[in-house]
Amino acid sequence: MSFVVAIDGPAGTGKGTITKILAEKLNLINIDTGAMYRCVALDCLNKNITANEEEKIKEVLEKIDIKLENTNGVQKVFLNGEDVSSKIRTPEVDDVVAVFAALKIVRDKVTPIERALGEKNDVIMEGRDIGTVVFPNADVKIFLDCSLEERANRRYKQNLEKGINETYEEVLKSIKERHKLETERKIAPLIKAEDSILVDSTNMTIEEVVEKIEEIVRRKRNG
Ligand code: DC
Repeated sequence: MSFVVAIDGPAGTGKGTITKILAEKLNLINIDTGAMYRCVALDCLNKNITANEEEKIKEVLEKIDIKLENTNGVQKVFLNGEDVSSKIRTPEVDDVVAVFAALKIVRDKVTPIERALGEKNDVIMEGRDIGTVVFPNADVKIFLDCSLEERANRRYKQNLEKGINETYEEVLKSIKERHKLETERKIAPLIKAEDSILVDSTNMTIEEVVEKIEEIVRRKRNG
């Protein structure tokens, strides 16, 4: 049996950074499931397909090839053979991904890929529905939360570092819209699993969050 750590929570809580550090410390494979939804959104954007064109999306999903590769702790994302690790993280993809991720046909495609990865490997998997839908029996479930304002602040700073010019207000607006879509969608909404442990990172440093989760996982692993 593989060991599964599920880390769920909204965008901008530091999930990506924290999961990456924890994967290395705990010798687990890091799986960023948002990257898969981003690949679907990018593939459709590239083909000028909008989220209400279900038939066309179905065709895209039939052919889509998404691969996550971990080399020395760095995750690369390949879409139909192309390294799209940067292309999936633009504001254009940010703006549409939540709408694609809300579609049943999209979730029905991505969820089995996630399950297959977690069944074969000891993983730390981050997303929105890992502890509720993908691995309801995960060994450890963490719900990482943070205030909307602090999340927007963090995303704004990340964007600046990447040379993306968006104002704080634009980032906040986009984060609020995505949050609404993710928490109110019918299928696999972002909610805390009853048995997950809440970690609120609003006033915590990355190191503090890592330390807290690391302790929880080690305690569970050592029985
Ligand atoms: O974590 P992220 O921002 O890269 O996620 C991109 C989008 O995918 C976001 O709108 C939420 C969605 N997502 C999801 O619905 N379920 C997951 N398990 C992971 C991400």
